[in-house]
Amino acid sequence: MKIFIIGGSGLVGARLSELLQEKYSIDNLNTSNGVDITRPETLDIIKKDSEHQLVLHLAAKTDVDGCEMDKEMGENGDAWRVNVMGTENVVNACLASNKKLIYISTDFVFNGENTPESGYKEESIPDPINWYAETKFKAEEIIRNSELVFIIARIAYPYRKEFVQKKDFVRAIKDRLANNQQVLAVTDHIMTPTFIDDIAVALDKLIETDQSGIFHVTGSQSLSPYDAAILIAEKFDLNKNLISKTTRAEYFEDKAVRPLNLALNNEKIKQLGVKMKTFREGLDAIK
Ligand SMILES: NC(=O)c1ccc[n+]([C@@H]2O[C@H](COP(=O)([O-])OP(=O)(O)OC[C@H]3O[C@@H](n4cnc5c(N)ncnc54)[C@H](OP(=O)(O)O)[C@@H]3O)[C@@H](O)[C@H]2O)c1
Repeated sequence: MKIFIIGGSGLVGARLSELLQEKYSIDNLNTSNGVDITRPETLDIIKKDSEHQLVLHLAAKTDVDGCEMDKEMGENGDAWRVNVMGTENVVNACLASNKKLIYISTDFVFNGENTPESGYKEESIPDPINWYAETKFKAEEIIRNSELVFIIARIAYPYRKEFVQKKDFVRAIKDRLANNQQVLAVTDHIMTPTFIDDIAVALDKLIETDQSGIFHVTGSQSLSPYDAAILIAEKFDLNKNLISKTTRAEYFEDKAVRPLNLALNNEKIKQLGVKMKTFREGLDAIK
C-alpha cells in the first residue's frame, strides 16, 4: 500500500515514517518539499493522485503555549490556520481523490476534570480547555462531519529513544539530570505517556484490519510528571535528589492551562491485539 505522510519530519512523524516504511511505500509531504497544508493548491499532489490509498496527517502547530498566544487572533492565528484550516484542506484533498485519512489527535481534547475511574474512552465527551486543544478538537469535528472514511488516533505525551531536532519530555528530564540540573516536576497532573514505536504498531494494525473511527493509541500507564521523573532517574541511574515537586498552577503560571487528570483508556486498541507499553516498559525499551 502507498501512503502519504504529512508532518513526517516531526518528533512523532519521523519515527512513524521510519517504522512504517518497512512494510508500506511511504511518501513524505513536507514544507521542505513544497507542501503547506494552509495553502490548498500545494495539496494538488494528493488530489491528482490515484496511487496512494491513505493519508497519515500529523502536521500541526504543536507548541501548546505558542498556540495560546495565537488565541486572540482567532481564525487568523497560526494555530487555527494550520490545525483547523490546514486539516480542512487535507480533508478536501482526500475527498477529491477518495483516500482514507488517519489523523493524529491528542489527549488534550479532554478537560481532565471528573476523569472516569477507567480513564477517558473513545466515546467520552471532549471539552478542550486551551487553544491548542480547541484547534485539534475542531479538526476532529471537521473530519467526523465529513464524508471521509477516517481514523482519529489520539496519542498522549509521545516519547522515543532519540531525535535531535526536538526533545520529548523523557529526554528533556533525562538530559537535565545527566547534566546535574534541577528538575521541577508537577505532582497534580496525570498523563498517559506513549512510546512512539507502539504507535507505529497500532497504526499498522488499524490499517491492516481496515478499521475506522476514533482510537486511543496511548500507553498503558497513567502517572504524574513527578512520578515519571523519578522512574526516569531510577532507570538511567541518575540523581533523584535533583527532582523537586511543583504544582500545575506554579509550573504553568503565565502559560496555557493544562488539564488535571488525562488518564486515557486504551482497551479498544488492545482488543485488536496491540500491546501498548506501560511507561516502565517504554523506558526499558529505550534503555
Ligand atoms: N508532541 C506531543 O506531545 C503530542 C501529544 C499529542 C498529540 N500530538 C500530535 O501529534 C502530531 C505530531 O506531533 P509532533 O510532536 O511530532 O509535532 P512536531 O514535532 O511539532 O512536528 C510538526 C510537524 O508538522 C509539520 N507542519 C507544521 N505546519 C505545517 C504546514 N503548514 N504544512 C505542512 N506541514 C506542517 C511540520 O513540518 P515542517 O517541519 O516541514 O514545518 C512537522 O513535520 C501532531 O498532530 C500533534 O498535535 C503531539
